[in-house]
Amino acid sequence: MKKLCVLVFLSLGLSGAASAKGDPEAGKAKSAVCAACHGMDGNSMIPINPKIAGQHAGYLEKQLKEFKLASQTGGEEGRNNAVMNGMAAPLSEQDMADLAAYFASQEAKPGETPENYVEAGQALYRGGDEARGIPSCGACHGPDGNGMGLAGFPDISGQHPDYVVAQLKAFRDGQRANDMNGMMRDIAMKLTDEDMDILANYLAGLH
Ligand code: HEC
Ligand code: HEC
Repeated sequence: MKKLCVLVFLSLGLSGAASAKGDPEAGKAKSAVCAACHGMDGNSMIPINPKIAGQHAGYLEKQLKEFKLASQTGGEEGRNNAVMNGMAAPLSEQDMADLAAYFASQEAKPGETPENYVEAGQALYRGGDEARGIPSCGACHGPDGNGMGLAGFPDISGQHPDYVVAQLKAFRDGQRANDMNGMMRDIAMKLTDEDMDILANYLAGLH
């Protein structure tokens, strides 16, 4: 129990929960530069740029800190993405908290799940695949894909399929390694390209 408390304390410290408090109004004023790629309200229209509207603020802030960290360590630490490293590099802790608060306060626009993906997607998302050691995605991301803010599990519902597939592949080959304890890497390692296609299309219409 004692060990657990220390871990919780440490992870809170690392995720910056005790740092700057975000102000959505201030974040809005700082968000013009983000709009070109993510949309004014965070509902990006471009399939490879993630929708960030309605995402948990803590998760958004963590990602921004990790892009910045990657920019400072030549990609050795954090989350390495050529475009976002450059965007996050000049941001202060306060800027990140404000931007995260602003985009979190916006309403996410859902996508659609093509009819032929519903059944297979739902089975894999909800039930995983015991034979292959794949857990239910819903165990962490929730039955409707809305995640759990405090636990650091992002909202993955309504996201662009192209972006989701790109992230699952990045976790699988270890190019994205900012998931605590390798939680997503362990799972993505077990997913085939077909699984990823099914899950991504299923998620688009889930909410
Ligand atoms: C030139 C286009 C571009 C601009 C401008 C841009 N982004 Fe991004 N953003 C991206 C792309 C592309 C990704 C996906 C990166 C990846 O594949 O890892 C991304 C990812 C993110 C993520 C991670 C989302 C997730 O679901 O994990 C956050 C948070 C984010 N951007 C916030 C911002 C903020 C805040 C700004 C403005 C300060 C901004 N971005 C400006 C293109 C852009
Ligand atoms: C044990 C908990 C857990 C399970 C089970 C899980 N995830 Fe995740 N997932 C996470 C965490 C934690 C993150 C965020 C990592 C970080 O902090 O960047 C994440 C991130 C993601 C992302 C990236 C989101 C973004 O906006 O960039 C996708 C996509 C994703 N998960 C899909 C899935 C799918 C599909 C499944 C089922 C096959 C699944 N996850 C199962 C914990 C889990």
